[in-house]
Amino acid sequence: MPRPVAVITGASSGIGMTFARKLAASHDLLLVARRKDRLDELGAQLADEFGAVVSVLPADLTKEENLAVVAARVANMDNLDLLINNAGFGTKGSFWEADIGGQEQMHRLHVMATVRLTHAALGKMVRRNAGGIINVASVSAFLRVSGNASYAATKSWMTSFTEGLCLELKSAHSAVKVQALCPGFTYSEFHDVMHVDRKSMAPPLLWMKAEFVVDESLRCLRKGKLYVIPGWRYRTIVALISKLPTALRLALENAGSRTRNSRESSRE
Ligand SMILES: NC(=O)c1ccc[n+]([C@@H]2O[C@H](COP(=O)([O-])OP(=O)(O)OC[C@H]3O[C@@H](n4cnc5c(N)ncnc54)[C@H](OP(=O)(O)O)[C@@H]3O)[C@@H](O)[C@H]2O)c1
Repeated sequence: MPRPVAVITGASSGIGMTFARKLAASHDLLLVARRKDRLDELGAQLADEFGAVVSVLPADLTKEENLAVVAARVANMDNLDLLINNAGFGTKGSFWEADIGGQEQMHRLHVMATVRLTHAALGKMVRRNAGGIINVASVSAFLRVSGNASYAATKSWMTSFTEGLCLELKSAHSAVKVQALCPGFTYSEFHDVMHVDRKSMAPPLLWMKAEFVVDESLRCLRKGKLYVIPGWRYRTIVALISKLPTALRLALENAGSRTRNSRESSRE
């Protein structure tokens, strides 16, 4: 019997690579990212270790022609069990000082790639009444700091979109599951790509391993949980912050921004 297939974007490192390693025991995989060499190496390892059939599709998901190829591949899969919209990146600095090209790419990757791939996957999943989609958002969807305007906005969009899909699936009595995974600070290449020092971002007790984040996501997917915020510290922060009046929340976000900026400048 053919194994179910999981499609993972951003599988060449960090959280995406960890999803691939965890799922290879039960799923065949389609791995998507720009770095083909990384995907080939991971695919060979997982095929060897778990007997998974691993396909690799190098793509820059901010480019329309690449995104169209990946979306067509997803739409043509008959046994797609899981789509994980994970590819993402952060930038630093105020929006008006940032390169506009990078800001647009972030919106294309976090928003448009999620729209297109989810649409490509969901039709067949709903007809089969099976499968799931994990959208990797962030705690930044709930808690902003300065220097993060596009990142927090696109991650908030991801949570809102996922919640909307959940409502539509429930009203259609569908068994298809959707999840907004909202990690806090997680060890990966994310902050290296941004060229920021992890120590200036947050104290060590707020950092999590990608393995923990992925285990939480997959455990909660089995239960059909919509919002997954790994770690009790982050769950507490989000629960408290979402109950505050806007003015108080903004004051806290402002204080957090000042603390981070002074930590960053003392390390420069
Ligand atoms: N690490 C954290 O603290 C943290 C916290 C909250 C949320 N997240 C979210 O978790 C997700 C995974 O990030 P990570 O922490 O695992 O970071 P990471 O190690 O830097 O991984 C990011 C992945 O996205 C891929 N990617 C980036 N741009 C792409 C593009 N244009 N087209 C296709 N793939 C692209 C990268 O592959 P290539 O470079 O090979 O293309 C890489 O595989 C992101 O959505 C991020 O926003 C991370």
